[in-house]
Amino acid sequence: MQISTVGIIGAGTMGNGIAQACAVSGINVVMVDIAEAAVQKGIATVAGSLDRLIKKDKITAADRDAALARIKGSTNYEDFKGAQLIIEAATENHELKLKILRQVDALVAPGVIIASNTSSISITKLAAATSRADRFIGMHFFNPVPMMALVEIIRGLQTSDATHAAVKDLAERLGKTPITVKNAPGFVVNRILVPMINEAFFVLAEGLATPEDIDAGMKLGCNQPIGPLALADMVGLDVCLAVMEVYLSEFGDGKYRPCPLLKEYVAAGRLGRKTGKGVYTY
Ligand SMILES: NC(=O)c1ccc[n+]([C@@H]2O[C@H](COP(=O)([O-])OP(=O)(O)OC[C@H]3O[C@@H](n4cnc5c(N)ncnc54)[C@H](O)[C@@H]3O)[C@@H](O)[C@H]2O)c1
Repeated sequence: MQISTVGIIGAGTMGNGIAQACAVSGINVVMVDIAEAAVQKGIATVAGSLDRLIKKDKITAADRDAALARIKGSTNYEDFKGAQLIIEAATENHELKLKILRQVDALVAPGVIIASNTSSISITKLAAATSRADRFIGMHFFNPVPMMALVEIIRGLQTSDATHAAVKDLAERLGKTPITVKNAPGFVVNRILVPMINEAFFVLAEGLATPEDIDAGMKLGCNQPIGPLALADMVGLDVCLAVMEVYLSEFGDGKYRPCPLLKEYVAAGRLGRKTGKGVYTY
């Protein structure tokens, strides 16, 4: 199946980023959020991002206008009519996602593929809330979507080969590199990344090196663009802790024990850049 129109649920950080990636690749978008203000904010974010690309000589004004013309904003799932794929990128809340997916599943034609951009909820579980577990899949984009080359494609237990092929083809048409992953907590990238950040906190807590030296070590010794502690401050220490707690409970394996220092910083309200202080002060 060749996908020419994509419906996107949620016009927030990820939803508008996915809309931009689709629109600049010639794919029509219907982006739905709960309130008109949220839809307009999402479209304005895309416009601003495209304007920055014009300033950098990456696209022309005509490219921007053509991309924006491909994005239709709405507050009504009925407008998904005509889309071959719906990508759910609403707030990360299990109950909310189940409610949205049941609603959309009842509205769109049986052949339509539904994907979720969830970071942490089981794709198999979300699929089971719909009547089309074989046409349900995970499409995990990275932030900021227009810049980041990776899409993790997560196959739920019942995802069909045809669904996987159609979504992989779309990811490639967006200029992304897809990797295919079986459903499990954290998928591949976050499963490796967040325990590495947690280990950096253990190293810090043991006083083995300063935060600056830990980050310099991982940047210069492993060619990482940013050190794990600086990255934790960007992601949010509370988010890192919550992810470790999910791994610990889901896998039941002590190797995912959150570092007590990470817990202590979160308890103190030192959540990273968003609170002005995490490992570093901003
Ligand atoms: N931010 C990231 O770095 C990142 C990276 C990968 C995946 N994700 C995942 O992407 C999803 C969205 O995250 P985000 O960062 O864009 O969140 P966000 O808060 O920026 O945006 C979520 C949007 O969903 C909208 N929404 C809520 N209920 C809705 C409904 N019933 N119908 C339509 N829209 C609704 C909200 O109004 C909001 O605009 C989450 O599942 C998150 O785990 C986020």
